[in-house]
Amino acid sequence: MSRRAAAAPAAPTPQRPLSAAPAQPASAHLAAKVIRWQRVHGRHGLPWQGTRDPYAVWLSEVMLQQTQVSTVLGYYTRFLQRFPDVAALAAAPRDEVLALWSGLGYYSRARNLHACAQAVVAQHGGQFPRSALALALLPGIGRSTAAAIAAFCFGERVAILDANVKRVLSRVLAFGGDVTRAAATEALWAQAQALLPVRGMAVYTQGLMDLGATVCTARKPTCLLCPLAGDCQALAQGKPESYPVKGKKARRSQREHALLWLQHSGRVWLVQRPDKGVWAGLWTLPEYSGRPLLEDTVARWPGQGRWQPTIHHALTHFDWTLHVLHWALPRAAAEPAALPAGRWFTLDEALSAGLPAPIRKLLAA
Ligand code: ADE
Repeated sequence: MSRRAAAAPAAPTPQRPLSAAPAQPASAHLAAKVIRWQRVHGRHGLPWQGTRDPYAVWLSEVMLQQTQVSTVLGYYTRFLQRFPDVAALAAAPRDEVLALWSGLGYYSRARNLHACAQAVVAQHGGQFPRSALALALLPGIGRSTAAAIAAFCFGERVAILDANVKRVLSRVLAFGGDVTRAAATEALWAQAQALLPVRGMAVYTQGLMDLGATVCTARKPTCLLCPLAGDCQALAQGKPESYPVKGKKARRSQREHALLWLQHSGRVWLVQRPDKGVWAGLWTLPEYSGRPLLEDTVARWPGQGRWQPTIHHALTHFDWTLHVLHWALPRAAAEPAALPAGRWFTLDEALSAGLPAPIRKLLAA
């Protein structure tokens, strides 16, 4: 049993309606606890923490969206080596940016990253604007990312509210609103803003992120280690995991396609995805509506093929089942007429292009 649950009254606290004034703990005292905790127990020494350069901080924040620190580290270093400043990134061909991003997922981030660098150069003379409001007008910088950059680099008193921080604050406050609804989220933003410290914004902001990532986790939070346990109203109710409140989710949709892995003299035929939609702008295997269509297509071709183990790939909004037919054309064969627009890549060329992670894994195997 947790410390707080033992001391709490047995009766559960009723959920507050959104409009009621929050029973808010003294904000200065909460923020001070977060800051003290971050200094001792938070994450330190990450490569983006030793700088106030908004370019470096922006890059890290975009990479860290939906992605763990351990995954980001290598990408971050390679990116900064290749594009040391915003002008270098803005001037790069988009394919090169996508290639360096390849494997990090959520590729709209890479396209927006490039567009944002170009906007900073074209509209702001190569200097990132210094307020969260102005930052949030740039491509791919949402309200929370803008706030994180402004807090870390310029000490602005502005609240972040990414998924981790939403969880921490909704638990501390036993915030009963459905955070999938805009009105409730807006109310939580207001409360997040009211909790900000007068000084120490960078440490406080990092502290909330660290708490959410390491202590106040979605499942089995370690409340015994939490500096806010004594203030946490969700813990007092004995049910921290019931927050944040989320309405019923729509069922994820399912899609199924067949991919053609066509090989000829050690090369593979790749097509570039359109600029909009899944894997936009990345190079991938030609896609067919299903196995029968692909089997009909290759039936007239020389060579031979074999179905590979099916790939199950989860994207943000749907689960994708991909059947992959590997087809090897004989050396002497001409290129089949019915191929969708694309080009041949050697394996090395393919692996250094912008490929979706499952396709990279398939080709590299
Ligand atoms: N997630 C988002 N921003 C982060 C940061 N600055 N440090 C660690 N994790 C994060």
